[in-house]
This record gives sequence, C-alpha cells and structure tokens, in this order.
Amino acid sequence: MENLEKAIPGKTAIVAVIGLGYVGLPVACTLAQTGFKVLGIERDQTKAARISKGISPISDQEPGLAELLTEALSSGRLQVGTDHEQCGQADVILIAVETPVDPDSRAPTYEALRGALTSLGPHLKPGALVIVESTIAPGTMQDVVRPVLEESSSLKAGQDFHLAFCPERVMPGKLLANLRECNRVIGGATPEAAELARELYRHFVRADLDITDTLTAELVKATENTYRDVQIAFANEIALLCENVGADVHQVRDLVNKSPLRAMHVPGAGVGGHCIPKDPWLLLHGTQGQLQAKLIPTARSINDGMPLHVAQLAEESLMTEGVAMEGAKVTVLGYAYLENTSDARNSPTIPLVERLRSMGATVTIHDPHFQEYDLDLEEAVSGRDCVILMVAHNEYRALDLADLRAWVSTPVLIDGRNVWGKTRTEDLGFIYAGVGNR
Ligand SMILES: NC(=O)c1ccc[n+]([C@@H]2O[C@H](COP(=O)([O-])OP(=O)(O)OC[C@H]3O[C@@H](n4cnc5c(N)ncnc54)[C@H](O)[C@@H]3O)[C@@H](O)[C@H]2O)c1
Repeated sequence: MENLEKAIPGKTAIVAVIGLGYVGLPVACTLAQTGFKVLGIERDQTKAARISKGISPISDQEPGLAELLTEALSSGRLQVGTDHEQCGQADVILIAVETPVDPDSRAPTYEALRGALTSLGPHLKPGALVIVESTIAPGTMQDVVRPVLEESSSLKAGQDFHLAFCPERVMPGKLLANLRECNRVIGGATPEAAELARELYRHFVRADLDITDTLTAELVKATENTYRDVQIAFANEIALLCENVGADVHQVRDLVNKSPLRAMHVPGAGVGGHCIPKDPWLLLHGTQGQLQAKLIPTARSINDGMPLHVAQLAEESLMTEGVAMEGAKVTVLGYAYLENTSDARNSPTIPLVERLRSMGATVTIHDPHFQEYDLDLEEAVSGRDCVILMVAHNEYRALDLADLRAWVSTPVLIDGRNVWGKTRTEDLGFIYAGVGNR
C-alpha cells in the first residue's frame, strides 16, 4: 500500500479514467499533460474511437480542449479504449460516469456507476487508489461503491485498496479552467486514501484541496448544486410576483443586490443540464429518511414550471394580437440548456416545445449549435406569429431587432433570458413579455 506514496508525487503512477464525458475527458487530458500515463476507458465505442483519433465530442465549446487532446495523444501519455481490463495496469482509477435519476421515482439509477465498478473490480490491483468523481447521493460510497467494488474484486477497501470521493465542480464551457482553479473537497474512506488523492490533485489544482470523510464530501457536492437550484427558484418566484404587479424583476434584483449580504440569482425560463435538475434529488435520496423535506422539492417544481410559464406568456401575448395558440406559428430560439454550447441535456426548451405543440402551435426550433436546428435565421422567423428566446447564445444577443421586426408576421416576442429588454423592443413595435417583466 505504500507504493503510491512515491508513485503519485513522482508521476510514475498509471491513472485510468473511466467515462470520457464532460468531466472525464478534460480530467484525462489534464493528467496526461501533467505527466502521468493515462488510460481513458469509455464504454461508448463510437465515442472512444473518435476520441482516440483526436476528435473530442465537446471541443467546439471547450477552449483549449481540442489542442490538449491532440497533445495528450501524440505524446503517447493518453491511450483510449473500451476495455476495462486495462484497469489492471492502473495504480489510480478515477470514475467519472453519469449518475442520472429515474424520471418517475427521482431515485438514482446508478446503472453506469455499478457497471463501471463491476467492470473494474476483477482487474483492480491490490494497493490501487479508486476515486469516484461522479456526483452521488450521500451514503453511496458506503452503501453502493464500497460493497460493489469489494464483491467484484474480492479485495477489502482500506486494507487492500484505497477509496476516495472527489467530486467535480466544473461547468461546461469552462471545464479546463475550473479543473485547475476551483477548490476541491476530498472525502477519504480512510485518512490515507484522502491524503493520496490530495497528492494526485495537487499536481494540477491551484486552489484549496480540503480533506474530509466520504459522507461529508457527498453532502457538500449535492448541497452546493441544490443551493443553486433553490436560489434560482427563489429568483423565479420573485419574477412571477413582479409580473403579477407589473414590475421589472431585473430592476428589483439589481437594487436588492445593493443591500449588504444579498446576492439574488437571475430568474429565467428554466434550469437544465445534467447536474442541477437531478442533484437536489440525489441529496434528498441520501438524507430524507422519515423527514419530508419541503423547500427543495418545491424549488424543483418552481424551476420545472418555468418553461410552461413561458408558453403561457406566449399564449397571453398572442391573444392581445387576436392570434390563438391553436394554429399559431412559433419559433423557439435556442435548444441547448446553456448559452454558446451544444449541450441539450434536460434543456428547458424540450418541455416548452412539447407544451406549445400540445396547445396546437406549429413550432420551429432554431439553434446554431445543433446541425438539425442550424437553419437560416431569417427563414426560421419569417412569417411567424411569435418568437421565443430560450438561450442567450451570442448570435441572438447580436441579432438586429429591426430586421427581426421586419421578418415576423405578428410581432410577439417572448424573452426568457432578459436579452432584448422591454423598452428597446416595444420602441420597435414588438409586443414584449419577459420572465419577470411583461
Ligand atoms: N457535466 C458537468 O459539468 C459536471 C460537473 C460536475 C459534476 N458532474 C458529474 O460528473 C459525472 C459525469 O458527468 P458528465 O457530464 O461527464 O457525463 P457524460 O454523460 O458526459 O459522461 C459520462 C461518460 O461515461 C461513459 N460511461 C458510462 N458508463 C461507463 C462504464 N461503465 N465504463 C466506461 N464508460 C462509461 C458514458 O458513455 C459517457 O461518455 C456525473 O455524476 C455528473 O453529475 C458533471
């Protein structure tokens, strides 16, 4: 077990990264750049084949990742494959697979996590360090990761191998920068495991590496994303109240935030991505027991309701022009969940479009970051009754509103991201409704 104490600081340890997605690929490339030999293991064969040819699935939105991947592959320090048997060579194994929740029960499915652990187990080297980076419910290291790994490897955690949890705090669009610059929490199943993990991250993290136990680290990660979800829900509720009394939530927010210790979030047309919509459910799954939490599920429901509220704003604004939603031609700008990316996981545009279609509208989706929605913008909005902005992509921020006014048939504009502003658009003759400002 003492081998790693030298191999990690000396960079002679071989590191395997299981799961080469938004988290795993940047980590694998960064470790290779740092000087480690890295084995990237990805179960999606097409993805693995493309990555091993130097084609990153997310390089279009991640500054520097394409170059880093090319460098890691050409230096020979990164090898990519689909076979978990390669983990037999690894001294350190990072697990960065997806951890979604079931859409009905909201419980984590852990299909990918269990798969990664059972595939790793038979090849796990005695003395190795296993670090879970995926976000998991509190208690999962103890109740799922440890028993599954012990059973599939016939080794004992803390005795035959080291086990730690070190969640990621990265954001798509800033993955590489966040990896290096964000403070990290490291939960060790033992203090030795935490120390070894800290030695590894010390090679590339220029921020605090805080050590604790696995349960505390699990709580920290799930809580920080839940905090964000609840804060956004609060801002969204204030937006709805402002709409009710004819006030502008953005002006209210700006002035609220001039008060000491206030940092109200930005309201908007919904919350998406792989993490924020599911991490509150992970937190509750691991902690609720007999207690029925109230605030966190309510916040989820407020945020999930925002795209439907946008559909309602569109319907009411169309009505003022004498146009019914049934048969209306509507264009939705933005399919991604995040501006200037092509990540559509849990995008609020998806339930919005479903709702508009169920109301009888003919809907066109436009998004320059998706091949299937990368239509000519003029064509996508010409002759439409309503244009709804769901994502603040740079292309939409730069749009000439006078052109837009000339292209549409009925000038109804719904701004889900406070990009265009009421006064500016109304001066051009639009009927404008924004979230929290109509
Ligand atoms: N996306 C983010 O910005 C972000 C930020 C912080 C934390 N996280 C957390 O990190 C984890 C990973 O998220 P992601 O966004 O990278 O997911 P992702 O879906 O982009 O990537 C996961 C990858 O793992 C692969 N995979 C699944 N099971 C596998 C197995 N058994 N063996 C090998 N490969 C396997 C998948 O094919 C996929 O390519 C999640 O728990 C997420 O909550 C994500």
